[in-house]
Amino acid sequence: MNDLRTRLRVCSTEDVDWDSALRVEIEDLVLAVFNVNGMFYVTDDLCTHGPGSLSEGFLEGHEIECDFHNGKFDVRTGQVTAPPCMVPVKTYNVTVEGTDVMIDV
Ligand code: FES
Repeated sequence: MNDLRTRLRVCSTEDVDWDSALRVEIEDLVLAVFNVNGMFYVTDDLCTHGPGSLSEGFLEGHEIECDFHNGKFDVRTGQVTAPPCMVPVKTYNVTVEGTDVMIDV
């Protein structure tokens, strides 16, 4: 069976400060890259509740709080952890190769 996934380089590990987030536009994707204690996670940047940009939210541990209406998601799974969000945010499988943060799309 063919593996149709494509791997994309999103950014360098050095582009994302410790315990913070970076917005990245690549191809037709707008992504939020999170550095949590040196581990990298990638989600869609757009909050599923509205126009909030998750990379501009407040990151505490693995939880990102949208700065629009304070909904929260777990950046590891995309699951909602606080309302008013109802729909999980899309996450991507991340690998780090050297200093390259890569995702499968
Ligand atoms: S737009 Fe993110 S919580 Fe409303």
